Amino acid sequence: MTLHAVAHLPELPEGQGWHAQAQDHQWLLVRNGSRVDAYQAHCPHAGAPLADGAVCEGKLVCPWHKAVFDLVDGRLCEPPALDGLKRYPVWLDGDRVLVDDRPLEPAQRSTAAGDRRTFAIIGGGAAGTAAAAALREYGFGGRILLVDEQFEPGYDRTALSKFVLAGQMAAEDTSPLRDTGFYDSQRIERIQAGVVRIDHPARRLELSDGTTLPYHAVLLATGGVPQRLGVEGEALANIHALRSREDARQFMTHTQAGTRVVIVGEGFIGLEAASALRERGMAVSVAGRHPTPFAAQFGEAVGRRLRQLHEAHGVVFHVAGVQAFEGQTQVHTVMLDNGEQLPAEAVLVAAGVAPATAMLDGRWLGEDGAVIVDAGLQASEGLWAAGDIARFPLAGEATRIEHWRLAEQHGRLAAANMLGAQQAYEGVPFFWTYHFGKRLDYVGNAHDWDSEHRMGDLQALNFIQLLCQRGEVKAAVACEREAACAWLAERLKRPLPLAEALAQIKAMG
Ligand SMILES: Cc1cc2nc3c(=O)[nH]c(=O)nc-3n(C[C@H](O)[C@H](O)[C@H](O)COP(=O)(O)OP(=O)(O)OC[C@H]3O[C@@H](n4cnc5c(N)ncnc54)[C@H](O)[C@@H]3O)c2cc1C
Ligand code: FES
Repeated sequence: MTLHAVAHLPELPEGQGWHAQAQDHQWLLVRNGSRVDAYQAHCPHAGAPLADGAVCEGKLVCPWHKAVFDLVDGRLCEPPALDGLKRYPVWLDGDRVLVDDRPLEPAQRSTAAGDRRTFAIIGGGAAGTAAAAALREYGFGGRILLVDEQFEPGYDRTALSKFVLAGQMAAEDTSPLRDTGFYDSQRIERIQAGVVRIDHPARRLELSDGTTLPYHAVLLATGGVPQRLGVEGEALANIHALRSREDARQFMTHTQAGTRVVIVGEGFIGLEAASALRERGMAVSVAGRHPTPFAAQFGEAVGRRLRQLHEAHGVVFHVAGVQAFEGQTQVHTVMLDNGEQLPAEAVLVAAGVAPATAMLDGRWLGEDGAVIVDAGLQASEGLWAAGDIARFPLAGEATRIEHWRLAEQHGRLAAANMLGAQQAYEGVPFFWTYHFGKRLDYVGNAHDWDSEHRMGDLQALNFIQLLCQRGEVKAAVACEREAACAWLAERLKRPLPLAEALAQIKAMG
């Protein structure tokens, strides 16, 4: 045992983490009165310094992508981390805080022996992988089949439009959700196959190679298929979509600095790609129907500022839809429905996704192909759905949300309920988006709001804007306000009066 004197009690703030360091060791200290706890200093997801996050209602929230950990035992409460925090023994000697550099033994997980059930998970992306891991975490001892048509185990697809297209990371270097040893050690059987039909009455999956797999319960987590535009010329070469590593590889192979690219769609993926491709020195035009991108989610003022940011970096916006693509074998012109003709050596279509649910009987599907589930993500006895494909009740409204962290929240919730927990989704949706070196956080879910309250400087992209209805905060969009958004990601689980939010955010600086 090596103890390190790392702080004096009076210098540790209450209600906020503190970064401590001694020799090569680093910790996060959290004080509660005369008690101090020590945890690993960096988030197990992508290494964020946890002292920059927030302490809220007995939980610690990561500043970057808002993973949540219980301060009692470091247990994981909310993804995108899929592991809890290591804890370290702490001693107080007078007011000196001493920390051991060897972590406490994690609580041993036990899985129920003799469980003869087979749970099938279709789709090994964000929701499916989180669900498989959570089933073992919650003690399931039966078989887990994780069926995915892709050979590669689940990986962080959010990096594709940010760092891969910018040339800062190879597609194959995007972080795996779990290393390959994890699947073996947790007895998660990865099966590479497309599921072409779910015969749920017979509790059987039919795979593309003709084999069938029986199951007791199934979780559908198949994500989205990029929408096609349905216009002439769409099959020409060098018209791309972006969903997978392979899509990103294809795009990278066919483009280079100077390539003239037209991006169709001014949503998050389209504009993240615009930012990345400008950084790679391409000439980028964006065609989309909305003059102010993101206005529906962030409000007009923030949307206008983001458009300005893109224009200042040379992105050219065209407010129009696509009528046709022209070219011999390869696209050379994008014809817009306002009469404009945009020269293009490559096109990226980022016009949204449709739920990948062709394998499921229509009786469980809504008009848009989403699986209709209850608040516990169940569609029918033994049938569950999670992530991009699930239409679930949120604040009384059937909602489908395409966010990474939410897909993982869904996966964990579905796993608990497959084991009989009967929990409803009570999480707070969150996503982040990245443009020209600036990360924006969006916490909550607001379709319409009656007031906006901004703190900070929007022009300098250092601000937080609260979207409120009848004096309650429904959502927030922010840049450079990580701690405040971390606090909101937990606090918004309960109704939040505007006055409380303003006071807390002001106190957080
Ligand atoms: C380029 C890009 C950037 C993004 N950036 C962000 C971001 O910054 N922040 C954010 O919050 N969200 C972001 N998202 C959205 C986020 O990635 C999705 O919401 C999330 O991946 C949804 O998880 P999922 O598990 O539902 O689906 P997925 O992660 O897509 O996983 C679905 C899996 O199902 C498999 N599958 C599909 N059909 C079948 C079948 N028939 N048989 C077997 N397997 C099948 C697929 O191969 C895939 O592995 C981004 C998405 C993309 C594409
Ligand atoms: S680094 Fe903590 S959630 Fe991503």
